[in-house]
Amino acid sequence: MFSKSEIRDALINYPLKEIMEKATCEKRKIFGNRILIRGIVEFSNHCSKNCLYCGIRAANINVKRYEMKEEEIFEVVKKACELKIKTVVLQSGELKRKKILKLGKIVEKIKGSFSLAITLSLGDLTKDEYKYLKECGADRYLLKFETSDEKLFEKLRPNTSLKERIKNIYTLKELGYEVGSGNIIGLPGSNLDTLINDLLLIKELELDMIGVGPFIPQRDTPLKDGKSPNIDITLKFLSLVRLLNPISHIPATTSFDALHPEGRILGLKSGANVVMMDITPPKYSKNYKIYNKKTEISYYKDLAEKMRKMTEMVEKSGNKLFFDIGASLKAQNPRLIF
Ligand code: 5AD
Ligand code: SF4
Repeated sequence: MFSKSEIRDALINYPLKEIMEKATCEKRKIFGNRILIRGIVEFSNHCSKNCLYCGIRAANINVKRYEMKEEEIFEVVKKACELKIKTVVLQSGELKRKKILKLGKIVEKIKGSFSLAITLSLGDLTKDEYKYLKECGADRYLLKFETSDEKLFEKLRPNTSLKERIKNIYTLKELGYEVGSGNIIGLPGSNLDTLINDLLLIKELELDMIGVGPFIPQRDTPLKDGKSPNIDITLKFLSLVRLLNPISHIPATTSFDALHPEGRILGLKSGANVVMMDITPPKYSKNYKIYNKKTEISYYKDLAEKMRKMTEMVEKSGNKLFFDIGASLKAQNPRLIF
């Protein structure tokens, strides 16, 4: 399969259970039942942009803005290492240049102290800034294209363009980053064709990592009354992402849990091979409301407890947590590029 019309047919007609099984089978061929774990630190919720769907957009005055101190970031990364986590994702809104330079120093310090991979998720920066952060030791970068529909992109992300976003993805590749991208499934204004084109764009970008998740309305945004996609189409989409991109690292993110109580487990049964553990201190994380998530943090007293829950969740899906750096398979074995 995989022509445009075959993808359309799969999204409309193919039984969900079968497509999930196919995706799982494809994942098992490459990764067995091993699920990689990445720790994510939402170190600042400042953002200069105004994406209509996002809870930490600049215009949202209800957000209590924060920025974690260098020592706090370092401390949380240390804790992650103690839990055998081998990749840390540092995420924030779009920051000013001064903050980017400061972050570079933190990346340098972390890389000098621990043996782990650092993934950055900081949005659109200049080529110089991407280069600087790479030289400081960053290994990977996540930059979702969000939607392949140019008009919708410009409507939902004022003063930005899809072309620019894609250009940045290629710049990151050129600079030697392992690169991740993906979309938001079911953004208001999108339709079946958008989903098909999103799948084709993901494939075309030949990504090391692919992050896809459903749109979840956030109460302080212009899209607060928008509807999330249903869990079935979301899982179908994820399964197709796996079938089209056999060797990419694909997480089952917490956004799946917002659609269904066992959303992430279902994600792990639809071809995902990665889980993300939010290791941001709860006092900050509660203010990182990109969308209205169920605050899992409050359920657990510490990271060790959270890790036990994560282990249980992964085992429930028929898999096992795997504490590996989880480098791109494309980088490790170019023969595996299809
Ligand atoms: N629903 C789902 N995902 C969202 N993001 C931002 N707002 C929402 C929302 N309302 C995602 C975007 C962004 C990432 C940090 O969070 O994909 O890239
Ligand atoms: Fe800022 Fe990213 Fe949210 Fe857009 S999606 S407002 S760039 S944090």
